[in-house]
Amino acid sequence: MATQRLFFAISLPDDMQQQLVRWRADTFPAEAGTPVVAANLHLTLAFLGEVAPETSQRLQTLASRIVQPGFDLDLDDAGHWPRPGVVWLGCQRAPRGLLQLASLLRAQAARHGCYQSPQPFHPHITLLRQAIQPVALPPRGFHWRFRVSTFSLFASDYARGRTRYRALASWPLTSQDPHALLSAP
Ligand SMILES: NC(=O)c1ccc[n+]([C@@H]2O[C@H](COP(=O)([O-])OP(=O)(O)OC[C@H]3O[C@@H](n4cnc5c(N)ncnc54)[C@H](OP(=O)(O)O)[C@@H]3O)[C@@H](O)[C@H]2O)c1
Repeated sequence: MATQRLFFAISLPDDMQQQLVRWRADTFPAEAGTPVVAANLHLTLAFLGEVAPETSQRLQTLASRIVQPGFDLDLDDAGHWPRPGVVWLGCQRAPRGLLQLASLLRAQAARHGCYQSPQPFHPHITLLRQAIQPVALPPRGFHWRFRVSTFSLFASDYARGRTRYRALASWPLTSQDPHALLSAP
């Protein structure tokens, strides 16, 4: 079977997607960049690149064994990376749980020969693409919080100039081992 372009990520709740889309429209002029569609807003934990089916299966098995509690994510920072042309939303202080989860997934992917990003992990939600001209960023003071209680593996499909993400599997973040729960008497 063919390889797939994969990444582990956190999805945003629907109401938060809508709030962010409205805020983005009020905050950035149309010429600032191309808005990412609401359903595609996400925070990548580990980008894996092109992955063969067997490796994908192995990484999914490892992901299902992760035992870690959920955490709150505060979105209170924004920035512009002119080189990739990305305007993003992120957090001034990343929660430990987020860093721990990303680091584990990235290490497992690296051990299975997946693509390794040369950049250090900088958690962000891409809001605009093709943002290559200078962009006026909003002053600090905006803030959204949401509880992260699941993470997912996505396939990124690109056709006719459009990217679609498909969730292949999702796992709960819980401090109780899900396998132990299943085998409890
Ligand atoms: N999806 C495809 O197969 C594909 C193929 C050719 C061109 N493109 C173009 O590439 C651009 C990005 O597409 P996309 O984000 O929708 O899909 P994507 O490139 O598959 O990205 C999926 C997620 O992985 C992250 N990511 C991608 N490459 C990475 C890398 N080298 N290191 C670390 N993280 C990485 C992205 O982060 P960011 O949000 O920070 O980018 C995004 O969160 C779009 O302009 C698209 O038109 C996509």
